[in-house]
Amino acid sequence: MIGKLNHVAIAVPDLEAATKTYRDVLGAKVSAPKPQPAHGVTVVFVQLDNTKVELLHPLGEGSPIKGFLDKNPGGGVHHVCFEVADILAARDKLKAGGARVLGDGEPKIGAHDKPVLFLHPKDFNGTLVELEQA
Ligand code: CO
Repeated sequence: MIGKLNHVAIAVPDLEAATKTYRDVLGAKVSAPKPQPAHGVTVVFVQLDNTKVELLHPLGEGSPIKGFLDKNPGGGVHHVCFEVADILAARDKLKAGGARVLGDGEPKIGAHDKPVLFLHPKDFNGTLVELEQA
C-alpha cells in the first residue's frame, strides 16, 4: 500500500545550526527557511536524490512540535511520511486493521498542499507516521 518515502521530519531546537550541519557537514542541498504559519512550523527542506529531510522548528503559539521539543530538547525524528495513491482507501484499510488515525480521521491539506493523515505512533513502533496522497 505505501509507496515512496516522501520525507523524514526532524524537530530541531536551533534551525540555523541544524541547517549548517546538513549543508556544511553533510554537504546537502538545503532550502531557505520557509515559515508555514498554518502548520505552526518553519521548515528547511534538505533535498536528497531519493527523498527529503525536513527540519522543523516551532513557529508561533501552540506549535504542534513544541511538546515534542520539550520532551526532546536536543531534537529528534518527529515523523516519517510515506506516499499513498489513495488516502481514503489507505485510511479505511488501516482502520479496518485496527490502526488509529489521529484527529477526526479526515485528511487535512498538508505542508505540500496535498491531503495528509497521521497515524498513532503506538501502532507503528513508536514512530509517528504521516501518509500523503501522492
Ligand atoms: Co511531514
